[in-house]
Amino acid sequence: MKKVCVIGASGKLGKYMVQHCLDRNYEVVGVCREKSVGKLDSFRDRITIVPGMTNDREVIKKAVKGCDGVLTVLVPWGVNNYSSGTAQAVLDFAEPGARLIFSCGWHITKDGKDEYSWKLEVFLKVVGWIAKVLRLIDIEDQVRACNLVFTSDKNWTVVRGSGLEEGESQGLPVWSEHVGDPILESNLTRRIDFALFMVEALENDDLIHKAPAIVGCQTPSALAHKSET
Ligand SMILES: NC(=O)c1ccc[n+]([C@@H]2O[C@H](COP(=O)([O-])OP(=O)(O)OC[C@H]3O[C@@H](n4cnc5c(N)ncnc54)[C@H](OP(=O)(O)O)[C@@H]3O)[C@@H](O)[C@H]2O)c1
Repeated sequence: MKKVCVIGASGKLGKYMVQHCLDRNYEVVGVCREKSVGKLDSFRDRITIVPGMTNDREVIKKAVKGCDGVLTVLVPWGVNNYSSGTAQAVLDFAEPGARLIFSCGWHITKDGKDEYSWKLEVFLKVVGWIAKVLRLIDIEDQVRACNLVFTSDKNWTVVRGSGLEEGESQGLPVWSEHVGDPILESNLTRRIDFALFMVEALENDDLIHKAPAIVGCQTPSALAHKSET
C-alpha cells in the first residue's frame, strides 16, 4: 500500500483514517465537500485534497487515480442517492486490483443472517421514516450502496460499525460475520478504532468480500469471548 484515497476525509471517521494512513507513511488523497476543506487544515501540507461531493463521478475519478487503496465513508445524506452514487463511482473508477474498504453500520446485512434487537429495528424504522420525510437522510440508500458493493467482483470489504464513542484508542476492534453473535453484544466501538480497522483492512486479504461487524476489543462482550477461547 503506497497511495490511499480517503473519501469523506473531513468527517470524524475520515480524519482518523487520514491520521492512521499518515502514520503508515502512505501518500494520502482526501475527498471532501468544498465547504469542509478547512476541517483538514491540520493535514494540509501532508495530503492532497480533492474538493467536491463524493457522488460526483469526475471528482472520484480524479481522486482514486493511481491509488492502491480507497477508504470510503458511506453516508446516506439527502434523498438523491448520495451513498449509492458514491459507491458506484468508486467501483467504476478505482484502479483494477485496488483494495476498496467501505464503512456503514450494523443495520446493513450481506446475507440476511444477522439478528437484530427489536430496539434497533424500531429505531431504524422510526428514525429512518422521519429523516426521509424531512428529506435529510435516506437510510435505504446506504442499503442500496452496500448491495452494489456486495455484487461487485472488486476487492472490497464492507466494515459495519457498532454504536460509536470518542476516546483514545483501545486497539484493533474484534469482529464477527453476523450481528447477534455474543461477541458483539456490547455494541460500542471507539471511532478512532473503527478507523484503525478500516485502514488495517487495506492490507488484510482475508477480509476481501467480507462484511465484518465490529466491536471494541475492550468491551465486556469482546473480553468475555476472549476469556472463553
Ligand atoms: N454515528 C454512528 O453512531 C455510527 C454507527 C455505526 C456506523 N456508523 C458509520 O460510520 C461512518 C461515519 O459516520 P459518523 O456518524 O461517524 O460521521 P462522520 O465520520 O462525521 O462522517 C459524516 C460524513 O458525512 C458528510 N456530510 C455531513 N453532512 C453532509 C451533507 N449534508 N451532505 C453530504 N455529506 C455530508 C461529512 O462531510 P463534511 O465533513 O463535509 O461535513 C462526513 O464526510 C458512516 O459510514 C456510518 O454509517 C456510524
